[in-house]
Amino acid sequence: MTLGEESRKWIERDEKVMAKFIARVSPLVAIEGRGAIVKDVDGKEYIDFSSGIGVVNTGHCHPKVVEAVKKQVEKLIHIASTDFYHPLQVELAEKLVEITPGEFKKRVFFTNSGTESVECAIKITRNYRKRSRIIGFIGGFHGRTMGSLAITSGKSIQRSAFSPVMPEAIHVPYAYCYRCRYKLEYPECDVWCAKYIEEVVFNHLSLPEDVSAILIEPIQGEGGYIVPPKEFLSEIQSISERYSIPLIVDEVQSGFGRTGKMFASEHFGIVGDVLTLAKALASGLPMGACVSREEIMDMPPGTHGNTFGGNPVSAAAALATIEVIEEEKLVDNAAKVGELMISRLREMMEKYEIIGDVRGLGLMIGVELVKDRESKEPAKKEVEEVILNSLKEGLILLPAGISSIRFAPPLVIDEETAENGLEIFERVLAEIS
Ligand SMILES: Cc1ncc(COP(=O)(O)O)c(C=O)c1O
Repeated sequence: MTLGEESRKWIERDEKVMAKFIARVSPLVAIEGRGAIVKDVDGKEYIDFSSGIGVVNTGHCHPKVVEAVKKQVEKLIHIASTDFYHPLQVELAEKLVEITPGEFKKRVFFTNSGTESVECAIKITRNYRKRSRIIGFIGGFHGRTMGSLAITSGKSIQRSAFSPVMPEAIHVPYAYCYRCRYKLEYPECDVWCAKYIEEVVFNHLSLPEDVSAILIEPIQGEGGYIVPPKEFLSEIQSISERYSIPLIVDEVQSGFGRTGKMFASEHFGIVGDVLTLAKALASGLPMGACVSREEIMDMPPGTHGNTFGGNPVSAAAALATIEVIEEEKLVDNAAKVGELMISRLREMMEKYEIIGDVRGLGLMIGVELVKDRESKEPAKKEVEEVILNSLKEGLILLPAGISSIRFAPPLVIDEETAENGLEIFERVLAEIS
């Protein structure tokens, strides 16, 4: 694609100093953002269907979030919130306890990212069960630090150079029904992928009492925006309850209204014993949280901590973010605009053979491209092309999983902007098809 002069210059400079292992998906050099619109350094505007990987749920630079940050920056930027106290950290913890699923006593630990929230979840469940084994799901993404990486299994490249990762992770297939790992059909399969844990893992690989936790995304994000059948998640929850194995629900990507409910687990009626959060929590300021049943987050003082977690500025942004989501009914908007987008994408599926699957809840929508509907051969090159050509036409998209494209605009997006973005996508798709 022909790049604007300024974009080209910045990319050249970036390529000289930034780590070579960063895999950029498209040559967007962003400089400004408002709502669902992003502007690049050459002044070109784009509709954003990526939300900075599901982060800016309140839209880019929401005035109330900006105001809260400005106010806090002038008062106190940092204090070390695990050594001292800070009112906003307490207020935010109280709010998270209130809005997260589960009518039980909870405790909160603040982090700076999704992977750190998962690290905390791994540590507290290990300590609680006095065991180290953990069950995760193929295609799952939980971060890239050495603990969470052990369970992450999105792409082999993410783990390739780092062996041995943290030991004792067992991976089982997720309910990716479009590409069932057992080549079964739903619902005749009776969610064998969930039952496999009890029937195979517990009989042949690990006694249930040796497992410290089961870690799962209610909708796989990086794995391809995969929505599992409800029974899959309820069966996982029942296994966790039957054997008293804590269930860690990773809502780093699916949380804060993204799916048309405040948390994706609410669609499926599951409640994690531990919940991991980040991304949209503070509208783009680095902040994550691990929210847990009180009895599980019960380690001696000093066992875990950090420098920046619960930072006053991020906490102010997070409180403003939750307020905006509630006041502006962004969860309802995600459900409404999401429905429209899914039905438009399903219409496109009837026209373009290259679309193999359209799935999603709210504004967490995945479109899987295939070379052939029968063989389901992944159309990986075409995904790259669609993303690049869409950018050229003014639409920001991100890939996911084997050969999917995610549609995850900010939750403030209106129907007209969503429709305009979909028109660009359809034009690009028509050319490629
Ligand atoms: C479900 C999930 N968990 C954890 C992470 C890791 O988050 P971070 O990149 O902030 O470390 C991600 C990131 O995409 C994610 O989608």
